[in-house]
Amino acid sequence: MSMKNEKYEKLLKIIPSVLEGESSLIANMANICACIKEEFSHHWIGFYLVDVEKNNLVLGPFQGPLACTRIPFGKGVCGDSWKQEKTLIVSNVHEYPGHIACSSLSNSEIVIPVFNENKLIAVLDIDSVDFNQFDDVDAHYLEKICQLLTLN
Ligand code: SME
Repeated sequence: MSMKNEKYEKLLKIIPSVLEGESSLIANMANICACIKEEFSHHWIGFYLVDVEKNNLVLGPFQGPLACTRIPFGKGVCGDSWKQEKTLIVSNVHEYPGHIACSSLSNSEIVIPVFNENKLIAVLDIDSVDFNQFDDVDAHYLEKICQLLTLN
């Protein structure tokens, strides 16, 4: 098993026990960010939550440098992931039309939608200083981790 798979398998064992008994989405998102950041040391990891009234995403729990607070529907990688309701892997953010640069150090990115009862309620965004950091393995495991969030 690759190093990356091993790290994710470890996270899939730890995270359910971290979330157990806690129904606060915000608290659980905060701890998921912490767990993933500890394991992978990504440049930035965080959640953006759907603000239904304003029709945009608002910054939620995160780890890393400060980030933009609002992202409109269909804008940037996060807004596109929300609109398309699917995971987006961007190997070079500088080539992504409409990419929102919160940090000049980010070079690749992955965004995973979070669903609750078939409704998209948030996205998980991870940025890396390395190009081509994310692949289908990340998508597979991060989608599983995001599913754990709405089980409680
Ligand atoms: N790059 C994202 C914006 C959020 S930051 O990376 C934290 C985007 O294009 O949606």
